[in-house]
Amino acid sequence: MTYRVGYFIGSLSSHSINRTLSKALLRVAPHDMEFTEIPIGDLPLYSPDFDADYPPQGRALKEAIAASDAVLFVSPEYNRSIPGALKNAIDWASRPWGENSFDHMPAAVIGASIGQIGTAVGQQSLRAVLSFCNARQMTAPEAYIHLTPGLITEQGEVTDQSTEAFLRSFMEEFRTHVARVLTVIPRS
Ligand code: FNR
Repeated sequence: MTYRVGYFIGSLSSHSINRTLSKALLRVAPHDMEFTEIPIGDLPLYSPDFDADYPPQGRALKEAIAASDAVLFVSPEYNRSIPGALKNAIDWASRPWGENSFDHMPAAVIGASIGQIGTAVGQQSLRAVLSFCNARQMTAPEAYIHLTPGLITEQGEVTDQSTEAFLRSFMEEFRTHVARVLTVIPRS
């Protein structure tokens, strides 16, 4: 079986270090994981007024999550929380009421920062949101990446062996987590 993973980049920056991290993660992931980015940059700001009739961007988001076996969040920390664009996307996906796209969805979070705490506080914020959305989160290992210049190339090659080994084991653990969750709660 191949596991289809939809991944979110929490940053809209054209030179996002979290996008660079995502490239590295895709390179070291187990071969039976298949990745598709779920874009968040074109979503309007969510309002309950849309619930009766979602616009194409909102429908595309929910369809992309429905087509995934699991979701991976690769996000910066903004002001000790998550970027507004990512929260907006999660709000869209969680609605309309009763149609929460993350219900029972296997999920993992990881992030890179230029600072030493490596998105640790932002990830706690993201975990709280995903917990309310009933996503089945991988709780360990945690991964707080302090992304120093040159640690990962533009193409996603990791230049430090121990960091590469850590990212590889993170993705292997994620695969195990996805397989476990889907065994108990198969996607319909
Ligand atoms: C930041 N940054 C940041 N870093 C951090 O470690 N903790 C924080 O709370 C914040 N807050 C924050 C707010 C805003 C609005 C910006 C623009 C930046 C710095 C952040 O780690 C750095 O800009 C990263 O490069 C952001 O990730 P991307 O966008 O490059 O993926």
